[in-house]
Order: sequence, then structure tokens, then C-alpha cells
Amino acid sequence: MNHESPPSTPDQTLIIDGIHVPRFLYGTAWKEDQTQRLTELALRQGFRGIDTANQRRHYDEAAVGEAVSRSLESGLVARNDLFLQTKFTFRQSQDDRLPYDPKVTIRIQVEQSFASSLKHLGTDAIDSYLLHGPTGRVGLTSADWEAWRAMETLHDSGKARLLGVSNVSVEQLQLICQKARVRPRFVQNRCYAARGWDRLVREFCADNGMVYQGFSLLTANRAVLASVELARIAERHGRTVSQIVFRFALHIGMIPLTGTTDANHMRADLEIFDFRLDRNEVERIEGFQEHSTHGRRGYG
Ligand SMILES: NC(=O)c1ccc[n+]([C@@H]2O[C@H](COP(=O)([O-])OP(=O)(O)OC[C@H]3O[C@@H](n4cnc5c(N)ncnc54)[C@H](OP(=O)(O)O)[C@@H]3O)[C@@H](O)[C@H]2O)c1
Repeated sequence: MNHESPPSTPDQTLIIDGIHVPRFLYGTAWKEDQTQRLTELALRQGFRGIDTANQRRHYDEAAVGEAVSRSLESGLVARNDLFLQTKFTFRQSQDDRLPYDPKVTIRIQVEQSFASSLKHLGTDAIDSYLLHGPTGRVGLTSADWEAWRAMETLHDSGKARLLGVSNVSVEQLQLICQKARVRPRFVQNRCYAARGWDRLVREFCADNGMVYQGFSLLTANRAVLASVELARIAERHGRTVSQIVFRFALHIGMIPLTGTTDANHMRADLEIFDFRLDRNEVERIEGFQEHSTHGRRGYG
């Protein structure tokens, strides 16, 4: 088998609990009938971390699995070089194409959803399993805890190697960290420059052994991307503003996600490991504020 791994530099992967985690993830939401083609394309361009969800409303996890199987079969990648992340999504954020029986307990829904994810992705273990989001914006409900306890059991079994949570506030993270037996290792949030690039959550993650994954870095921050200052920084480095935002994300300890459909953007996105921003530039970007928040609502 010819396993073509892209050339890697030391900061292209993190090691968390012995698991290699790529520092840039390819997101598979909203791709519909292009999911398989685009996931394969992303793997060919060099992405080794894939983010999906067992939520048919926004993702086609089975098509992601098809892309993974084909890429393994062709020798493009080896399973050990791949980082597969998926999510459990509560009923309220699903449509009728459910990966579980809605009448059974939450614990069993998690088990059913997870088993379906393993099948879709053609694997016997998921590298990172996320709770797609708590049931509410404030506090945690008994349903949230039931889901988390079921995820802890999956972690105990070795089938969910790392756990995480998405679409959460600092207060919710504090509650999880106080009572979880297995703490989340990832937090995946929409990242608004207007909120200091989710500063409070990022700081909480850094202080509590969690890695922050940021999505919608481009689409939620359009005014920042169009700013003269960012254009100047990009020009100084001979890079695009998107590359500057992603490089900035790495610099502040974040794992960025992209859902680009464009092969050139995929390649450009991965070309952020060979340059650095200086401290002054990082501070300027970190201080950018955007007065309105754009981007999709709800979870995808
Ligand atoms: N946990 C959650 O609830 C949740 C919610 C939303 C997203 N996510 C995850 O995050 C992933 C990414 O979502 P996203 O909102 O960050 O991105 P996205 O909206 O899927 O894609 C990025 C957008 O920016 C454009 N773009 C322009 N230049 C680009 C460049 N150089 N590189 C990349 N994109 C460029 C892309 O257009 P082109 O296609 O033309 O490049 C695309 O329209 C999703 O697929 C999903 O896996 C999770």
C-alpha cells in the first residue's frame, strides 16, 4: 500500500492522551450529495482530521464513511493517520432521519447513535466523540447528564477515544468539569471575533486541559476579514486574509475547522504551518472587535 502522508511539521499535530490530533480539521456539514467527493478531495489535499455528526439534517455521515473507506482502500491514507470525530445530537436538533429510536432512554439513544456512527464510518473506534450541544443555553439538564454518562461509558470501552462538547458556554463547561468522571478534551464552538474570539471559553479550556476547536472563523467574522489592518498583515506575509485568520487561530492554541468546497482553498488552508505571526500582529488580531455577529444559527 502506498500511504501518501503529506509532509508534516512539528506543529501540525497535537498528542492528547496518546492520540495524534491534526491541528486543522475538515468539516463535512452542508455538503449533501457532494459529501463523499469533497471529503475524498480534502483527504487528497492533505487533511487528516475529519469532523462530522450523526445528524442527517446537516451532515451525511455515511457518505463521509464512504470517502474514508475509498481512501483507505486506494492507499491514500492509513487508518492510524486519520483522526475521525463525530457527534451525538439530541432529538431537538435532528430532523426525522434519526440515528436512534426517540422513544428509548437518552442513554440508549447515545449507544444507538454511536453504533450507527461506527457503521457509517467503517471503524471500530471513534477518535473523538462530541456532545453536539447541551439541550439548553443555560445550565445542564438531566438529559445532558444522561448523555454525558453514556459517553463516559463509551470512553471506558475504548471505542470513543476522546470526548468533547460543542456549542457550550463557560458556565456549562464549569458544570461539566465539576461533575464529569471523564472530562471533555475538546470544546467545539462558533468563534466570533466580537467575543474576543470566544476568549472566556478558550481561557477556560487552556486552564482545564481542553483544546478549543473553532468553526465559522471566516463566515462569522466577515467585517474583520474585510478590514484594512488584516489586509496589511496578509500583504506583509504574502498570504491571504483567510490564511492569516487560520494562522492566528493556531497561534492562540485553537484547532481551526474549515468546510471549504474548493481544492485551492483546501491547499491554501494547510499552508499555514510554514510561517508565523509576530506577537504584535497576534495582539492586534486578538483585539479586533466586530459589532455584529454573522453566521448560521443552530448547530450544523
Ligand atoms: N458543532 C457545531 O454545531 C458546528 C456548527 C457549524 C459547523 N461545524 C463544523 O465546522 C465545519 C466548518 O464550518 P465553517 O462554518 O467553519 O465553514 P463553512 O461555512 O463550511 O466554510 C467556509 C466558507 O468560507 C469560504 N472560504 C473562502 N475562502 C476560504 C478559504 N481560504 N478557506 C476556507 N474557506 C474559505 C468557503 O467557500 P469555498 O467553499 O468557496 O471555499 C465557505 O463558504 C463544518 O463543516 C462542521 O464540520 C460544527
